[in-house]
Amino acid sequence: MTVDLVVRNCTVVTAAGRVPDAGVAVEDGRIAAVGRPDHLPDADRVFDADGSVLVPGIVDCHIHNREPGLEYKEDWESATRAAAAGGVTTVVGMPNTDPVIDRPEHLELKFERGEASAHVDFQSYAVVTSENLELIPEIDEAGALGFKIFLGSTVGDVPPPNDGEILEAMERIRETGKRLGFHEENGEIIDHYTEQFQAEGRNDPIDHSHSRPVIAEQEAVERMITFAEETGAKVHMFHVSSGSAAEAVARGKERGVDVTAETTPHYLWFTEEVMRETGNPARIQPPIRDAAEREKLWEVGIDGEAIDCIATDHAPHTPQEKKVDDPFGNTWDAISGFVGLETEVPAMLTFVDEDRLSLEGWVRRHSTRPAQVWGMYPRKGSLQVGTDADFTIVDPDREWTLEGSDGLHSKNCVTPFEGESFVGKAVATVVRGEVVYEDGTVVGDPGYGTRVDVD
Ligand code: DOR
Ligand code: ZN
Repeated sequence: MTVDLVVRNCTVVTAAGRVPDAGVAVEDGRIAAVGRPDHLPDADRVFDADGSVLVPGIVDCHIHNREPGLEYKEDWESATRAAAAGGVTTVVGMPNTDPVIDRPEHLELKFERGEASAHVDFQSYAVVTSENLELIPEIDEAGALGFKIFLGSTVGDVPPPNDGEILEAMERIRETGKRLGFHEENGEIIDHYTEQFQAEGRNDPIDHSHSRPVIAEQEAVERMITFAEETGAKVHMFHVSSGSAAEAVARGKERGVDVTAETTPHYLWFTEEVMRETGNPARIQPPIRDAAEREKLWEVGIDGEAIDCIATDHAPHTPQEKKVDDPFGNTWDAISGFVGLETEVPAMLTFVDEDRLSLEGWVRRHSTRPAQVWGMYPRKGSLQVGTDADFTIVDPDREWTLEGSDGLHSKNCVTPFEGESFVGKAVATVVRGEVVYEDGTVVGDPGYGTRVDVD
């Protein structure tokens, strides 16, 4: 038997364990075998991984790909080019585009654009507002991966439903079997402090952080868990930024609520001091927290397992919008969010190098659990025979520094990781058996990526 592709000479790591001196065989875009070299078939193409580590493709369930409508910031092609270069094989786009993804036609438009230009596989969430509760079954039928509610004001200004509408949305979404995720910040708290700080002339980047305190996040997590307990809906907390919110997630899990959660590399890497050192380019919502909250996020979220998934919240904006030329200027004129697709694997591998988590623990949180949480497993997030042949090949020892984020592949590349040093990098990315990124170059064709169908 001769298969299409065999990757040889790597350590294969999954969430369950590792096999040194192994390889993977691919036929028709699916995994045909995983094992020792003498158990692998002949292949038309042999990829020598040169002793690197091969893991199931990284699944990033939180990116802002900006298309349709905000292509001046990013589009499907540029976002998924960055994904391929970052070792990410599946991305899920957020619905705060223009138009917002709040009805089947808008979702279909977003999918069409992705089919036309994506380099890696993709999906999308749909947003729930007070205007579209009755459309939830149709949006489900149109193939959305899941649903999102923005509880507090953020980029895109999608208005939150009221608490009664949220309960109703949970009941309707429960019937679809899909999951509802939140931008979990209590809108009344953050609006109050934002207005107060602006009136007082507190205009520094750190003031933006403090205008959105931890209690706003913690309270929103607790309220949504209470609603999920009442309705039986499956819920998810996007971008958990603080240990206190992770503790709230842990309490919900202990009570038996089907609540999952994600955090991002930037909350695990930085403290709010980055706002004093880097300023507006590091502005994001929710904000980067103080050292005590970060340590508790590690303890409760990662060591204590309250956090299921790692994702980026990749959120490109132009340098002008980020106030790159005036990083400590009036923060209320700057916008929140920055790119992350090409620094997430390096950041997580750096934590592995620092013994803060194992390679298996990284793979679980960055591939397997995201696929499970959002209903894409085992097609994504595993190396099971017969599933999509998506892999990320990494050099966990590569030392490098991000110098001049212009080398990144997004349309706009502002990131607080500029100047940071890493140990580890993606060296090749394989999507359904096709090498889409290799040796620093995106080699795949736009349009190869396809929507991940879910029931
Ligand atoms: O900082 C953020 N940027 N937080 C969000 O909630 C949205 C995101 C964006 O779309 O830019
Ligand atoms: Zn986001």
